Amino acid sequence: MSKFVQSPIVILLFILGLTSCSDNKVHEALSNFPYAGVGGIDTQNQGKALFTSCASCHMPNGSGRVDGTIPNLAGRKKTILSGKLTQIKMSEKWLPVMAPFAKALSSNQIELIAFYLSTLEPPKNIGQGPIKDPSLGQKIYLNLCIDCHLLDEMPQITGQHFRYIQRKIREFKTMPEELSPMITIAKELSEKEITEVASYLSAQKSPKGSEK
Ligand code: HEC
Ligand code: HEC
Repeated sequence: MSKFVQSPIVILLFILGLTSCSDNKVHEALSNFPYAGVGGIDTQNQGKALFTSCASCHMPNGSGRVDGTIPNLAGRKKTILSGKLTQIKMSEKWLPVMAPFAKALSSNQIELIAFYLSTLEPPKNIGQGPIKDPSLGQKIYLNLCIDCHLLDEMPQITGQHFRYIQRKIREFKTMPEELSPMITIAKELSEKEITEVASYLSAQKSPKGSEK
């Protein structure tokens, strides 16, 4: 009798053990292989399948939109993408349009999507700014931005849509400074400087950021 009672429990425990073990394995595999192309086809396909729920807004190739409403995600750093999605999921970052989609994802699914996006080629046609002479924008970038933004944990801002960069900097200008170091920087920039630096940044190649 006790055998019959116990066996389903044993089986259940066994299944639970297997599931958590395979979850851990996925996580382990992903953290061991954050590099493009070495996460395995399965990992990539799972991320790709999950990304279909995002593609209507983010576009099937992850390129976002030239009008600046949606950023390019293709080829961006995995850790930055997963970090942003986790912040949105946990309501630590307030992006109302995105929130329901981030909240619907488990942390493993976030890792899979971020990995998939990091392996994509950055789009060739990124929305560019009106300023064709890069000298002033480049000077601003080298003097005011590069020290922070070349760090591994920082968002990539090169090869991003002109209108997205412009909108983001304008939005930072309206926020309380204690929320992010970026806000202090944004407040120092004039409209002309924003246009210059955003034009310069959108014209740069996006370094394929999947290494991180
Ligand atoms: C209904 C449209 C919509 C859908 C669907 C959507 N997003 Fe977004 N997403 C946005 C918008 C709009 C932004 C830009 C928000 C902003 O900058 O104010 C964004 C921004 C992002 C960002 C960048 C956040 C940052 O601050 O850098 C990531 C990463 C992202 N989305 C991933 C996803 C993923 C993954 C999915 C699918 C699970 C998804 N999105 C589904 C609209 C959408
Ligand atoms: C002191 C460090 C620091 C400096 C200097 C700095 N940034 Fe930032 N920047 C940040 C941080 C941190 C974030 C992420 C903030 C967030 O998501 O809330 C950020 C985010 C951004 C974003 C949004 C990226 C995205 O994908 O959502 C843009 C655009 C940006 N910075 C542009 C610039 C420009 C242009 C300069 C130079 C004029 C600059 N930053 C200088 C720290 C810095």
